[in-house]
Amino acid sequence: ATVTYDFDVGWTYANPDGQRTRPVMGINGQWPIPPIVATKGDQVIVNVKNSLGNESTSLHFHGLYMNGTSHMDGVIAVTQCGIPPGSSFTYNFTVDQPGTYWYHTHERGQYPDGLRGPLIIHDPEDPHQDLYDEEIVLTLSDWYHDLMHGLLASFMSVANPSGAEPVPQAALFNDTQDLAVRVEPGKTYLFRMVNMGAFAAQYVWFEEHTMRIVEVDGVYTEPMEADMIYLTAAQRCSVLVTAKNDTSANFAFVGSMDQDLFDAVPDGLNPNVTGWLVYDDSKEKPAPKLIDAFEPFDDFELVPYDQEELLDRVDHSITLDLKMDNLADGANYAFFNDITYVHPKVPTLYTVLSTGPNATNPIIYGENTNAFVLAQNQVIEIILNNDDPGKHPFHLHGHAFQVITRSPDDAGFYDPANTPEPPSTPMRRDTILVRPNGHTVLRFRSDNPGVWLFHCHIEWHVASGLVATIVESPLAVQAQLMDSIPSDHWDVCAAAGVPTQ
Ligand code: C2O
Repeated sequence: ATVTYDFDVGWTYANPDGQRTRPVMGINGQWPIPPIVATKGDQVIVNVKNSLGNESTSLHFHGLYMNGTSHMDGVIAVTQCGIPPGSSFTYNFTVDQPGTYWYHTHERGQYPDGLRGPLIIHDPEDPHQDLYDEEIVLTLSDWYHDLMHGLLASFMSVANPSGAEPVPQAALFNDTQDLAVRVEPGKTYLFRMVNMGAFAAQYVWFEEHTMRIVEVDGVYTEPMEADMIYLTAAQRCSVLVTAKNDTSANFAFVGSMDQDLFDAVPDGLNPNVTGWLVYDDSKEKPAPKLIDAFEPFDDFELVPYDQEELLDRVDHSITLDLKMDNLADGANYAFFNDITYVHPKVPTLYTVLSTGPNATNPIIYGENTNAFVLAQNQVIEIILNNDDPGKHPFHLHGHAFQVITRSPDDAGFYDPANTPEPPSTPMRRDTILVRPNGHTVLRFRSDNPGVWLFHCHIEWHVASGLVATIVESPLAVQAQLMDSIPSDHWDVCAAAGVPTQ
C-alpha cells in the first residue's frame, strides 16, 4: 500500500509543561505533530511544505535504512539541501523494517523546537503479537522554554568556554505532563517508547508493574524482564506491561532525566515526568514514590530475536577518538581524531554523484567532514574512544550495528587484549551510549550503499561538530542514483543558491 502525508510545517504556539507558552514548529497548524504510521512493505510519501518563513528545514526518518534511497534520508548538507522557506519537497521511500522509529528535522539544532514525532511500522508477522492486546506509543522528551536559535548562539560562544549545554526546564510524556493511560485488568500492553529529546537521557519505570523488553531501535529481542530502562536521546524500546487483575488503585509511571548529563542542576528543576496507568477514573492518580538509586537494565544483555551471529571477521576498522576542546574563537567544540565537523557547501551525496571514479577517495569530501569511504559488503568495525567525561549517545544512519563491547566509566581507550570475548549473538541497535572516558566497539556489514552520518545525538554536540560521514560503496551509489534523483532535490538547492554540478 501507499501511505501519503501532506505536512505543512509552520510555527504555532504551545505550552506543554504549563510553565511557558512559546513558539513551536508544528505541522498543519497542530502541535504535537502527528505520528507517521505504516505497515511493513508500504511505500511512504511525505509531501513537505516549508511555511516556517524564517528557517530552512528537512525531515529525517530516524532508524530507517533507506536502502536504495539514500537521497531520501533528509540530512541537510549530506543527502539534500535544506528546504528553503516557501519551498516544497517530497520524501518517497519503502519501509521494509517493522518497529519503533521517529522522524525529526535534520537542520542543525532545529528539532528541539518541536519538529519531531514518532514513526511506527506495523508488522503482520510480529513474532510477539500474541503476547499483547493493544499498543500504546509513549514518547519521552526534554523541553526548553527558549527557542533553539538563541540557545545555540549562546552555547557556541566565547561566553561558554566550557561547552556547558543548556539544561532543559522540563520532561514530557507524549508532549504533556498530564498523561493518563486507561488500562483494563489483565490486558497486556505494548508500550513503544521513543526518546525524542534533544539532550537528556531518561530513566523509565512503572510502579509495581514489570516490563518485558521485546524490541530496541527496530530490532526484535528475546523478551527480557526489566524494572527500569534507560533511554538516551534517540533510542527506542518496546516493552510489554501486563495490567493487574484488580482495579482498586491507579499507578504512576515515571520518566526521570539523567541529571549526570547536566553540568549544573538549576534550583527547582523537576527532572521527572509522571504518567498514570488508570484502572479506575474515580480513584486518585498517586504521586510517584521517591527512589534512592537508579539501576536500569543493561541493554548490552539483550539478544536479538533473529539470533544474528557475531560478525567475527573484520575487514575494515575505523577508530574515532572523541574529545571536546576550545578553538581560537573561544567557543567549545567537539572532535573526532582532532577534527570538528564542518558541513560542506555541496551535500556529500552530490559530490559522490559528480566525481566519477574519484568518489572512492576520501580527500574529495573535504578536510572537515570526517569522511570515511567503505567498500561494498565488508564487515566494518567502529572503535569509539571517549576521551571526555560526558556520556554520548551515538547514532549511525542507514544501519543497525552489533555492539561488540561497551566499557564502564573511566575504562579508557579500547584495548582488545583487555576486553571480554564478544557475545555470540550481540545485541543490535542504531543508537548506543558510550560512557564517560570509556569506549564502545560496533560492527556492521556495508550492504547499504549511501551516505550516512555517524554522530552524537545530543543536539548540542551536533552543533559543536561531533559528526562523521560514512560514504558507503560510492560507486554503487552512483549506479543506483545517478539519473534518478527527483527534480525537487535540485530545485531546493537552486533556491538556496547551492551549486550542485
Ligand atoms: Cu535521529 Cu542524524 O539522526
